[in-house]
Amino acid sequence: MLVSATEMLQKARAGKYAVGQFNINNLEWTKAILLTAQELNSPVILGVSEGAGKYMTGFNTVAAMVKAMDESLGITVPVALHLDHGSYEGCYKCIKAGFTSIMFDGSHFPIDENVAKTTELVNVAHGLGLSIEAEVGSIGGEEDGVVGAGECADPNECKMIADLGVDFLAAGIGNIHGKYPENWAGLSFETLAAVNEKVGDMPLVLHGGTGIPDDMIAKAISLGVAKINVNTECQLSFQEATRAYIEAGKDQQGKGFDPRKLLAPGFEAIKAKVKEKMELFGSVNKA
Ligand code: 13P
Repeated sequence: MLVSATEMLQKARAGKYAVGQFNINNLEWTKAILLTAQELNSPVILGVSEGAGKYMTGFNTVAAMVKAMDESLGITVPVALHLDHGSYEGCYKCIKAGFTSIMFDGSHFPIDENVAKTTELVNVAHGLGLSIEAEVGSIGGEEDGVVGAGECADPNECKMIADLGVDFLAAGIGNIHGKYPENWAGLSFETLAAVNEKVGDMPLVLHGGTGIPDDMIAKAISLGVAKINVNTECQLSFQEATRAYIEAGKDQQGKGFDPRKLLAPGFEAIKAKVKEKMELFGSVNKA
């Protein structure tokens, strides 16, 4: 059931668990995530970066596929279709295409410009019943062409943006997109605690979920994180399973070259990864 992400994240914040945002790339990804959410009776957020939207031939294609798949599979758990790290123009495209949630990433603008653009988009999104995420500080590394230095968010700026009426807020707390380097200093819980204190009961978003140790995930949830984004880990699971299939020569046995067979191990690997994360985040049976 396609919905905005507001209610599921307010419930998660109050119930001290987090809903996973899993990024989608194609039909297999989308089907694997939707089926797993339904099997585990968990709410879920499908994240679409601008690059992934382009890859799938545009946000209209993505929205049409997700809507049709949600109906055809008889998905009854709450599902939000969410733009990940959206530009100003990208937000409008997704609103038009029928997404149920958007992220406006204005973190690279001076704070006044971030405030002005976020204010406008909050009004438009809410007028149409969509939820909206904003970002302060930045997430290190690169997410599909969006590069961040990884500076920790200023809690006062977080309050400014939270007060504009956004539904959930991403604050940079030393998190990084992609794999964490060996010398990673870990999440800044000092920053997270200070942000949490400033923004009341606003659900906070933890980007860069790949590779964050379980104890840090639990601590982040205890400090107000209600949405955790995972992308790279699903990609790595898919890659490993596909590599194993080909290295075992299975693509050359019988009709092993059939794309439905070739992609099946990767599909199952994404399902297993999403299940592992939903259990870790505590969203199972919270639909
Ligand atoms: P990872 O690729 O590190 O899991 O990050 C995903 C993310 O934060 C998407 O916005």
